[in-house]
Amino acid sequence: MTSSSASFISLLLVSSFLLGSHLSLTSAQATPPLVAGLSYNFHATNCPSLETTIREYLREIFSSDFGVAAGLLRVHFHDCFVQGCDGSVLLAGSASGPGEQAAPPNLTLRPRAFVIINELRNRIHRACGAIVSCADITALCARDAVFLTGGPDYRVPLGRRDGVTFATRDDTLANLPFFGSRVPTLISDFARKNLDVTDLVALSGGHSIGRSNCGSFVGRLYPTRDPTLETNFANNLTRVCPTNTSSGLTALDVRTPNIFDNQYFVNLVNRQGLFVSDQDLFTDNTTRPIVVSYANNQSLFFQRLAFSMIKMSMINVTTGTRGEIRTNCSARNTATSYLSTAVIDEEQGKSASY
Ligand code: HEM
Repeated sequence: MTSSSASFISLLLVSSFLLGSHLSLTSAQATPPLVAGLSYNFHATNCPSLETTIREYLREIFSSDFGVAAGLLRVHFHDCFVQGCDGSVLLAGSASGPGEQAAPPNLTLRPRAFVIINELRNRIHRACGAIVSCADITALCARDAVFLTGGPDYRVPLGRRDGVTFATRDDTLANLPFFGSRVPTLISDFARKNLDVTDLVALSGGHSIGRSNCGSFVGRLYPTRDPTLETNFANNLTRVCPTNTSSGLTALDVRTPNIFDNQYFVNLVNRQGLFVSDQDLFTDNTTRPIVVSYANNQSLFFQRLAFSMIKMSMINVTTGTRGEIRTNCSARNTATSYLSTAVIDEEQGKSASY
């Protein structure tokens, strides 16, 4: 063997080793470790139609109202960051006080998202019995919101149970990140949920779809314009929100507002991020390389987003015998509904017992 062919073979060996270790690293990281009590097959036997019911229903809804996809994704995030993914954000207020929906960051959640989750709960409980939680349905809706608007598909671990309490206004406010926050604050907000810097950047990519009210970004326009804003982008925002009390709406992703893709990160690189909390991911040296890598590589973003969405969906979940399976996502079960898990067929006026 000549020395040149020997070195070619060793180059091949080294590169196949590197490639192999890269692939095995990637597959090892493809899904985060599951928390106790959750599994991918939790409802495979007792409710095999669960995931198709949700996907087909949402496909139909989004064909006439794609905006609600963003609404559903945001509800899951707001559920998980406050008391864990226990469906607490779905609860209406009670004698103990106003529900989480009355806290400022939740006032802009889309009411139709709550109606859809409850309608799906009704369909699923009719088909399988009251065995699937509102928290699981919300996590699956968020996954399908991502997938049906162009994002990655991924499996959602199931087995969450619904909480029986909701957070106070102050607790809700304290747990949801603020749109005016800079990266160091966002990193610590996410660290409190066991999410790291990569999760922060990937999950912020949720802003690839949906919209915002002027109130969440006018602070960047008035009294003085935030100099990090790209000029044309800032001029357009000023047209949408001519004063600091305007009530206009604008897309979170100026390039592809209705498609779940990596253009949100391209916006950041071009100083066209809507919130301080978005744009600072590019300004800050800690997060900037991650932003650039996602702007350049959509597959990498999709892979990391799927990983981080699964991680977020497991924050402080209620499992086992704790909590309950709500028979109405907006109210905890009453003593009577605990005893008889009767599911009322709201559409046909029938009552089925399980
Ligand atoms: C990093 C911290 C985050 C902050 C500060 C933040 C803040 C906001 C704000 C202020 C809005 C607009 C509210 C309005 O109408 O004025 C919004 C919308 C939205 N957020 Fe976030 N968010 C964050 C993370 C996330 C995450 C992790 C996700 C999901 C993975 C997400 C998904 C969405 C979606 C989809 C919308 C649009 C909702 C709609 O069109 O109805 N956000 N966010």
